[in-house]
Amino acid sequence: MRVLFVASEVAPFAKTGGLADVASALPQALAARGHDVRVVMPNYDVVSGNGFRPAEAEPGILGFDLGPRRVAAGVKELPLGDVAVTLIDVPSLYRVGAIYTEGPEEAFRFAVLSRAALELCRRWRWAPDVVHCNDWQTALVPFYLEAMFRSDPVLGSAATVFTIHNLAYQGVYPADVIPSLGIGGFRDMLDQDSLRSGYVGILALGLRYADLLTTVSPTYAREILTPELGFGLDGLLRTRADDLVGILNGIDTAVWNPATDRLIPHLYSAKSLWRKEWNKKALAERVGLEWGERVPVFGIVSRLVEQKGIGLLPGPISGLLERADARFVALGSGEQRFEEALADLGERFPGRAAFVSGYDEPLAHLIEAGADVFLMPSQFEPCGLNQMYSLAYGTPPVVRKTGGLADTVRHWDPTNRTGTGFVFEHFDEGGVWWALNEALGAYADRKGWKQLQLNGMAEDNSWEKAAGEYEGAYQRAVDTARAKRVARPST
Ligand code: ADP
Ligand code: GLC
Repeated sequence: MRVLFVASEVAPFAKTGGLADVASALPQALAARGHDVRVVMPNYDVVSGNGFRPAEAEPGILGFDLGPRRVAAGVKELPLGDVAVTLIDVPSLYRVGAIYTEGPEEAFRFAVLSRAALELCRRWRWAPDVVHCNDWQTALVPFYLEAMFRSDPVLGSAATVFTIHNLAYQGVYPADVIPSLGIGGFRDMLDQDSLRSGYVGILALGLRYADLLTTVSPTYAREILTPELGFGLDGLLRTRADDLVGILNGIDTAVWNPATDRLIPHLYSAKSLWRKEWNKKALAERVGLEWGERVPVFGIVSRLVEQKGIGLLPGPISGLLERADARFVALGSGEQRFEEALADLGERFPGRAAFVSGYDEPLAHLIEAGADVFLMPSQFEPCGLNQMYSLAYGTPPVVRKTGGLADTVRHWDPTNRTGTGFVFEHFDEGGVWWALNEALGAYADRKGWKQLQLNGMAEDNSWEKAAGEYEGAYQRAVDTARAKRVARPST
């Protein structure tokens, strides 16, 4: 199949979270299975900041009208394994020091990306079977196709798959941005209730007009149909429940594998687990923790936002450090209140708790390799990748039973020696406290702990399985789009 994959971030070029990892690994996995996959993303300044030098690519300059404005975008290219990534270059929009902004042009920035991706196909005369869009930033793609390109010779029969990586980010803007997005002439296709209330929700348009919807785990696919985790879109999603599939993300084993990871000082595998201890020492040194024989290190790497349950940590972690010989290390950036709470732990427990503020790829790998337990107390988690990285690194995760965390981690049973981590249900400090103590208890049993590590390391979370499921989803979308064309009066 010919697949156009559009995303606002793609690792290693530009990344704020798991979307970038998926947008990098999935296209490569699909290409390895013989598909013709092209990826499109913006040319942010972080791309060159990360050391990449995109080359000029066909067609050089791409010009198109978006509402009242004429857009002229440079077209660049970078290789990603066997996949070509095309970068849309509009310096005034994308070279602004950040991948996402809260500025007035935010909706326009990603409308340009969405539209440019389609215009590129026309310029290339390359007719995609499927356009795969991700999160609100690319949710206008299905809308543009439906509203404007149904009789286009290149794009007319393209099917659309829209993947929800996180329903909490919806791209909701005041209705006065509508003309700038080039959708002013199609008001009857917009959500009329939203219009009356004076706004437009871009994610909702993708959910409405894509041929098939996917999200990143089976449990999250069920959860978003409920008012509790549907963030106001559960009603719309329930009308599309038959077109919604949950496909669990994989992990890129070329990047996240302790036996080959170039970002950790000591490589190890299930057969040489003792070498993990050397990474633990390196981690302790790197972040200023006192290393101790058989002293467990609890680690977390996260965006510091409400979703991730950071607010639940200071109480139970303080309790843990007061009562037991343990260590805590956190890496992340985000909301001030969470940064302060974590920094405060570091100050109260010097040598035993450390917080590193910022985004640090090598340190993220070192924490996976050097910590004994990884923490993910999320309030909700569409999939979550870090818990799968932890499993692969022999670092059993503590997770809340939600979304993809529930689908990938099984609670440790010391009697039968089954399970891969520690799973708590209630999103409160009591839940975290219970799980921390379960982990502490398990850690005390040296043999049991090793079995727990090996159980996790034996899990197969590679992309191979997921890529096969996406093929199925693409085929379904193609069939749906074809049926719609047959039903539609010819134009
Ligand atoms: P989300 O996409 O919601 O942030 P995921 O678990 O899917 O959650 O993916 C998070 C990804 O971002 C992981 O690859 C993780 O290592 C990375 N990450 C998050 N915060 C940081 C940070 N401060 N430094 C380095 N990597 C980070
Ligand atoms: C989102 C979700 C995360 C998921 C990632 C990749 O950022 O918060 O759970 O793993 O997308 O799909």
